[in-house]
Amino acid sequence: MIKPGAVANGHIGAIMAKIAEGGFKFKAIRMSRLSKEQAEAFYAVHKDRPFFGSLVASMSSGPIVAAVLEKENAVMAYRDFIGATNPADAREGSIRKLYGTSIEANAVHGSDSDENALIEASFFFNTMDQF
Ligand code: RTP
Ligand code: MG
Repeated sequence: MIKPGAVANGHIGAIMAKIAEGGFKFKAIRMSRLSKEQAEAFYAVHKDRPFFGSLVASMSSGPIVAAVLEKENAVMAYRDFIGATNPADAREGSIRKLYGTSIEANAVHGSDSDENALIEASFFFNTMDQF
């Protein structure tokens, strides 16, 4: 997912180009906006963390771009590719280093397991869609 901050800053095209250059295939793309309730559900795993309220507010603050990506070992490959959660610690040239502005507004989200990737895709895409 391209997060609201990166969309607002005009980085959709650059981020998608970088993802493609990284060898990921786009299987589905959708621009959408999370309601507060959807953002809460999306990040439910973090509901007891001190930053949850702020994270939900920022994730529902504007449009996002959701995508399903394909690559061998895609979940781990993409997490490595985007860089560390905090852009300040992210690898030079990574998406989070280039386009993240804070640990919270870190440009992109990546699923953390195959199981969660399926659950998260179902927020945006009909499970009948052929990825
Ligand atoms: P993501 O789920 O968004 O792909 O990021 P991640 O796995 O690298 O990091 P995670 O621990 O799952 O945290 C989810 C998102 O919460 C925000 N965050 N804020 N203020 C803070 O200390 C803090 N820590 C995490 C970030 O937006 C992070 O991407
Ligand atoms: Mg995560």
